[in-house]
Amino acid sequence: MDTHECKSTVLIIFGATGDLTHRKLMPALYFLEKEKKISDDFQIIAIGRRNKTSESYIEEIVDSIKSNVSERLNHEILEKLAKRIQYHRQTFADDLGYQKLHNDIEAIHTCCNILYYLAVAPEYFDVIIEKLERYNMTQKEGAWRRVVIEKPFGRDLTTAEALNSRISSIFEEKDIYRIDHYLGKEMLQNMLVLRFANAFLEPIWNHQHIDNVQISSCETLGVETRGAYYESSGILRDMVQNHMLQLVMLTAMEPPKSFSEKHIRDEKLKVLESLTENMEKIETACGQYDSGTMDKKAVASYRQEDKVAGNSNVATFAAMKFILNNERWKDVPFYVRTGKRLEQKVTEVVIEFKHLPQMKNFENSEHIKPNTLVIKIHPEEGIEFKFNTKKPRTINDVVPVNMNFCQNCETGVSSPEAYERLLHDALRGDATLFTRWDEVKQSWILIDAILAKWGKKTLHFPNYKAGTWGPETAHELLGKDGRRWWVE
Ligand SMILES: NC(=O)c1ccc[n+]([C@@H]2O[C@H](COP(=O)([O-])OP(=O)(O)OC[C@H]3O[C@@H](n4cnc5c(N)ncnc54)[C@H](OP(=O)(O)O)[C@@H]3O)[C@@H](O)[C@H]2O)c1
Repeated sequence: MDTHECKSTVLIIFGATGDLTHRKLMPALYFLEKEKKISDDFQIIAIGRRNKTSESYIEEIVDSIKSNVSERLNHEILEKLAKRIQYHRQTFADDLGYQKLHNDIEAIHTCCNILYYLAVAPEYFDVIIEKLERYNMTQKEGAWRRVVIEKPFGRDLTTAEALNSRISSIFEEKDIYRIDHYLGKEMLQNMLVLRFANAFLEPIWNHQHIDNVQISSCETLGVETRGAYYESSGILRDMVQNHMLQLVMLTAMEPPKSFSEKHIRDEKLKVLESLTENMEKIETACGQYDSGTMDKKAVASYRQEDKVAGNSNVATFAAMKFILNNERWKDVPFYVRTGKRLEQKVTEVVIEFKHLPQMKNFENSEHIKPNTLVIKIHPEEGIEFKFNTKKPRTINDVVPVNMNFCQNCETGVSSPEAYERLLHDALRGDATLFTRWDEVKQSWILIDAILAKWGKKTLHFPNYKAGTWGPETAHELLGKDGRRWWVE
């Protein structure tokens, strides 16, 4: 809870004319307004370099909210939100702009907390933070100053360390909110509840009962307009360093001592450490999409996409096998897979349980399917448990059945968008769903090692057709262990 004497808050968005602000942040603020999660004296300063008045900016924002919110809008709420917004024109390097910004804030409230949201490309993080410090905007007696940093946080360990040392020379770690929007997804938060609020699950959540864990995040889209970004990022930096490792951590972590920010993050970190301790056991497969057919339409290969080199060796697909170095997960493989232009859009965690020794006594024992628990994250949100029952009118033929809980299937039930939860948490000072520096650092150690391994490989790209489930090597990764991907 906040113990600062200043109670009013100003949200300052850098990059306020950009895609993220229009599609995610402003719709999230609309919902926070609707849910009465922001106080009456909350204000928003939107910073952009284009020549606009506050009125014309607000008009655009209202249009964006209309097109990015699926439910019918409440005009009273929209108006209330609009009244909080001021547009402030400046470039990121503009000294006069920061002076004016400082004066504008003082004019709103002499005593206020400030959340700086850097919805900008990573090359601007430094300049903005340095200018904020120069103009005495990073500290205030009786108030807090926090900063939200969008991903990517660095492009390897060296750049992430350099960025971190600059930011942390100005803001304290407790005030740095490194965003990974996957953590704001409802089902990721539900994973802790599923694991630690169900007496039947936690006792079997270990190597004695679980055969393997499969984590997939598959996209049907290609790189679209982000070819230039993707050429310098690739799938490991874009998806694995952040989102996929978060899923591994939440699935594998030990029960935290409490659900406090510190204890949850401490346990997550231990998972990454036990992964890196077993670095030599990591196996990988990588791929790049070729042209193919999706939804009966021909689609281009990665190398034919806009702003992508014709001979690019950037991976658009990665599959990995991790073995954690701890007692709970002894020898249990975690298979992790993510890629673009795959057959289906789906993000799921599948827990496959071991066969029981007595299963061999059933007549059709060789056909009995293992129990699986599927945590569905996107687009469907829910939990599916596959278990075995007796087929009626047989002596004891075993058949699989499903128990399905779908969280977002009922009409009228919609989960909050990730940014809504994350913005609210940053405003109220809860960093549990943001990544701590030691987590980011450990994840880069892992990713750098995999990238170095890939750098030594001869890549035969492209190696999977758009609209399929990825390269053959990703199937071999499980096939040689006598397993297969469940999500197919
Ligand atoms: N878009 C998403 O869904 C998404 C999702 C996850 C993470 N992110 C991250 O969020 C950040 C922003 O992404 P985005 O998609 O919103 O980018 P974007 O659409 O390119 O927007 C960038 C913003 O920065 C402004 N800008 C650029 N250079 C400037 C300068 N020198 N002075 C002042 N303003 C300047 C742009 O102003 P102009 O309008 O005048 O060009 C625009 O408002 C990136 O780090 C990205 O990786 C985005």
